[in-house]
Amino acid sequence: MPRIAVLPSTVADQIAAGEVVERPASVVKELVENALDAGATSIDIAALEGGRTLIRISDDGSGMTRDDAVLAIERHATSKIRTAADLVGVASFGFRGEALPAIGSVARLEIETSTEDGAGTRVRVEGGTLATVADAARRRGTTVAVNDLFFNVPARLKFLRGARSEWRAIMDVLTTMALTRRDVRFSVSHDGKALLTLPPAAGLRDRVAALWSVDLADGLVTVDDVSGPVRVSGLVERPADVGTVARRAFLTVNGRAVRDAGIVRAAEAAYRSTIPAGVRPTVLLELQLPGGDVDVNVHPAKAEVRFRDRWPIERAVERAVRRALGTEDAAVWFGAPGASSQPVFMPSVVDVELLRAPQADPAHAPLFEEHDDDRSRSRDPAISRSDEVPAAPEIPVPPLVQLRRTFISYERDDGLVLIDQHSAHERILYERFMGALERGDAPSQHLLFPITLHLSPAEAEAFDANRDLFARLGFEAEAFGGSSVLVHATPNPHPRFDAERCLRDTLQALTGDRVASAHARHERLAATVACKAAIKAGDVLVPSEMRALFIALAGTTLPAHDVHGRATIVHVSWDELERRFGRR
Ligand SMILES: Nc1ncnc2c1ncn2[C@@H]1O[C@H](COP(=O)(O)OP(=O)(O)OP(=O)(O)O)[C@@H](O)[C@H]1O
Ligand SMILES: [Mg+2]
Repeated sequence: MPRIAVLPSTVADQIAAGEVVERPASVVKELVENALDAGATSIDIAALEGGRTLIRISDDGSGMTRDDAVLAIERHATSKIRTAADLVGVASFGFRGEALPAIGSVARLEIETSTEDGAGTRVRVEGGTLATVADAARRRGTTVAVNDLFFNVPARLKFLRGARSEWRAIMDVLTTMALTRRDVRFSVSHDGKALLTLPPAAGLRDRVAALWSVDLADGLVTVDDVSGPVRVSGLVERPADVGTVARRAFLTVNGRAVRDAGIVRAAEAAYRSTIPAGVRPTVLLELQLPGGDVDVNVHPAKAEVRFRDRWPIERAVERAVRRALGTEDAAVWFGAPGASSQPVFMPSVVDVELLRAPQADPAHAPLFEEHDDDRSRSRDPAISRSDEVPAAPEIPVPPLVQLRRTFISYERDDGLVLIDQHSAHERILYERFMGALERGDAPSQHLLFPITLHLSPAEAEAFDANRDLFARLGFEAEAFGGSSVLVHATPNPHPRFDAERCLRDTLQALTGDRVASAHARHERLAATVACKAAIKAGDVLVPSEMRALFIALAGTTLPAHDVHGRATIVHVSWDELERRFGRR
């Protein structure tokens, strides 16, 4: 057996560097974090060849004295903590005292720094050994240049990707930093070309606009919700836009950018029934929660968090995003909504949240039916929300006009609104049927003459497999010889409802369907029956029917989207129309 030997410190540093410095992007991350920790308000980032030959980060932060600059390149030299107890709730990005020595051990490192304008220090480190310390004139702040990364570690050099893909990884890091620290000015250049200048931004939306595009930023819906101790804010994509551009995800917890698949999944779950499964929305979310509920320092690169209890936090995120998607903002606009934009269903000033109160939540009252039928309302699934929301006023309904037997239109102060009658009714029925499936309380209508349906073997099997659920939706039916069923009662969504056709089409859609969870099966069935049961384009609606549709849609949780991810509501702002007519 070979004798044991203590490793020389440069070798130990190189090994440690493997954890901190994986590729140019990790160098950029460490150096920008140091600049932020030093209180920088402006940071310039420049790189050559994807950071392989040069990474240079300049900041206007506190700078270092000569002694500190020399010390900073020693392992475990940090100004940020003194004792292990300081680790609890540490606010700085760095605290290990690892980054600079690790980088210095695998590159040619040069630090120029000054604590006040004028006299400063230049320190050079090569492959882990201090080469020179000299005077350097510069303004307050620090510039760290990393030349020839991995020049002395060929094994690591070999694993670097091409300049373009290393640069892309650097941009990912910088994007995250820029979204997190909107108060700081960043400028970015690559191979001598200035790529980005980000002035300090007032909020996330402004930063997104500067980073990507104004259009993209304008299209995002604001999230802002508090559940117990958790505050969730940020921006998410409108369902109608999902899938049209590259999808991005960004998450901070207590101001620190982290990765957390569970939280992102929870945000995505909020989109259920508004976008097709498997398509992923852009979500940019910021969580604030009491320090005791979260440990953000568990990961060596500080990129992951550990929650004391993640379930309520994921629920808070899903709820916050769902609420955002239920707002006016989430509907489709042509032309930006004016600053005066009102809630979509409100031609006058009433809090849209009140609209969602159960009394004003007629989504579950029979649409196109006399309202003295209390079977449905007394067991209204929305009643469970009554403890949350105060009583609501009557919903004022504007004059409605049907267009092309397809759309319902009306005007408001800020523009013209078009509602797709089929999509809207589908959304209403979907939410009503989901309530019925989860709680089993759908109103149905007994038929004087039962319907006999002759089913194919596959349809009969689908009926058998879903018999309970059909009953909850209001289809009372029994097997009747071989593969026939006798239907005694059906749901009653509108006078033109063709129950036989709906049941048959739904069974056809369900054949061979193997959806795992009960909830997913409910969603699938509710969406299918809603689609088949809803009024169609081409159906003429009388004014009272349009009013009923309008009121019921206002009572849904996600009025702006049907269950396939299509819009139910399209706004055209007067601004936009006037522009098109050359009036502006
Ligand atoms: N841009 C900078 N401006 C001012 N001081 C800096 C700068 N970069 C580094 N320092 C000083 O050098 C020290 C060492 O930096 P280094 O990144 O190695 O460790 P750290 O930030 O304390 O911890 P970590 O290894 O977790 O990043 C810091 O604690 C800080 O005092
Ligand atoms: Mg650091």
